[in-house]
Amino acid sequence: MAIKTNFINKFKQRIKNKQIRIAVVGLGYVGLPLAVEFAKKGFSVLGVDLDKDRLEKLNKGCSYISDVPTKDLAGVIKKGKFKASGDFLKLREIEAILICVPTPLKRKYHPDISFIKQAVKSIAKNIKTQALVVLESTTYPGTTEEIILPLLEEGAINTVRIFIFVSPLRGLTREIFITRYLKYPRLSEELVLKPLY
Ligand SMILES: NC(=O)c1ccc[n+]([C@@H]2O[C@H](COP(=O)([O-])OP(=O)(O)OC[C@H]3O[C@@H](n4cnc5c(N)ncnc54)[C@H](O)[C@@H]3O)[C@@H](O)[C@H]2O)c1
Repeated sequence: MAIKTNFINKFKQRIKNKQIRIAVVGLGYVGLPLAVEFAKKGFSVLGVDLDKDRLEKLNKGCSYISDVPTKDLAGVIKKGKFKASGDFLKLREIEAILICVPTPLKRKYHPDISFIKQAVKSIAKNIKTQALVVLESTTYPGTTEEIILPLLEEGAINTVRIFIFVSPLRGLTREIFITRYLKYPRLSEELVLKPLY
């Protein structure tokens, strides 16, 4: 319990001081605005995606998401606050990882969670000793505990503690993102705490 409280208190302080490094995995309609807003607030943000074209555009400062003005993106790149990469190894330096990969609906409105699984496996191999993982992708209840947690446990050999949250759907457009998303707490009460030792 003391370790948990210590970790959380230190983490909160590091957030206040904008010291934590954040990664957003999946740089689409949800991930890119989120990443750029954090970077604009002064956090160092690593954007991770598998799409090479997108990565190339991003690192040139060109936005492909209408909600993210190119000048905002170019601004945070210039300040050294945002970088995009396809290299999951870079997650070793990151304390907070936000998963924003797609979950398209399959037959009978079941979400396809294969992108989440693939992303979590890559994260697990590279996660830092103590880290916060937040699932932003829309999925069915239980995904964090039943899917993500076992995958992290299986893959994260060196990890001492992982804190996992789910962040329920809050916004779609930039306007909603700015007016509502940033006003209310982002993380749901549901916390799955898993000490891996
Ligand atoms: N939490 C919220 O507030 C909120 C709000 C709206 C939507 N959503 C959900 O967010 C998720 C993302 O939606 P979107 O519209 O941004 O999707 P999108 O298709 O626009 O973008 C997804 C990105 O993820 C990348 N990607 C796919 N697999 C990857 C992997 N294994 N590793 C790294 N990158 C990978 C893709 O290349 C793409 O760039 C969906 O599940 C959506 O329902 C959440």
